[in-house]
Amino acid sequence: MAEELDYDALEEILRRHDYDKTNIISILQETQGIYRYLPREVFPLFAQKLGISEARIYGVATFYENFSLEPKGRHIIKICDGTACHVRKSIPVIEELRKILDLSPEQATTKDMMFTLETVSCLGACGLAPVLNLDGKVHAAMTPEKARELIANVREEDSYACN
Ligand code: FES
Repeated sequence: MAEELDYDALEEILRRHDYDKTNIISILQETQGIYRYLPREVFPLFAQKLGISEARIYGVATFYENFSLEPKGRHIIKICDGTACHVRKSIPVIEELRKILDLSPEQATTKDMMFTLETVSCLGACGLAPVLNLDGKVHAAMTPEKARELIANVREEDSYACN
């Protein structure tokens, strides 16, 4: 889903980094901070402004796991299916989330771009298993019911914010 690029904001990021190609990682991080992913349209722009090849920028963007080339939803849910979480029943939580978000296993982001569901292999909080991270906040001892409540709360908060 192509998004209109905010060229002023991108130019501002480049300016802050003195158009220095050695700052490419920070430049990409700040760009992702705006869009929640790296729109491919920024590659030719940055290549031209920084005097490096698009292939080099693409290489950096794909090397670091924190960069995403796919659009993400407004809310990011990371559900852990590492060993500790798996044995404490993360799968029913994942299945419930897919059901309420209407996602297939191949699809990470809802059609309305509200949620992205990612399965990860450890969130570093195994003692709290099964663990879910919603927009950077850890939720312990997840169950399908708790996951459903969590999503309902986010949807409710968003509907207030939109009115
Ligand atoms: S295995 Fe889930 S937090 Fe470590």
